[in-house]
Amino acid sequence: MRIPEELARQGQQRIAPYPVEGFVYGGGPKHPQMMLVGEAPGETEIHNGVPFTGRAGKELMAFIDRLGLTRDQVYITSAVRSRPYRWGEKKTRAGERVKRKYNRPPTSKEILAHAPLLDYEIEHVKAPIIVTLGNVGLKRLAGSDKKIGDCHGTLLIQPVQKLDENNHYVWTKEEYRIFPTYHPASIFYNRSLLDVIHHDLEELKKCFTK
Ligand code: URA
Repeated sequence: MRIPEELARQGQQRIAPYPVEGFVYGGGPKHPQMMLVGEAPGETEIHNGVPFTGRAGKELMAFIDRLGLTRDQVYITSAVRSRPYRWGEKKTRAGERVKRKYNRPPTSKEILAHAPLLDYEIEHVKAPIIVTLGNVGLKRLAGSDKKIGDCHGTLLIQPVQKLDENNHYVWTKEEYRIFPTYHPASIFYNRSLLDVIHHDLEELKKCFTK
């Protein structure tokens, strides 16, 4: 499943005012075992055009493996499809200061700009379970009052937020099965989260049979 070209074009137009670059489609089989919702692509992803192919992607593939699944059995997407960046300075080995782009989390305006793309995927992929990775995907779908620290590793059964024609979030009529866990990149900053994620994945496995 891939979103229609016209929707992708509209998404690129809606996000054009903000400091982002590139565009990465979500992707996966017609009937995936689950849908994974990340934050936004990074430098590697916009280069490859494939989500989660950088450092965080390597960790994510290990998580999928722990679940007894392979990448081609899951649908992978994110709240924002372009890489949010900020300019910073880096010192070269020769001691020279050079400007370069760094990844940053997407803003709420950027998430709103790409909301119709994720809405389309949620509606058409009809995954039996949606796994949100980190706070961005969780808050986007289950509501801004949700916090990853409170609800990771538990199954939420509830409506999700989608954009209406006035560009406001509304709740869907349907309920969805949402399973929040941490973003794979979180372990780069806090290694102890790896054990927490492994525990969450064991809980997630139990949801597959329900
Ligand atoms: N983080 C995400 O949320 N998505 C990617 O594709 C890569 C890193």
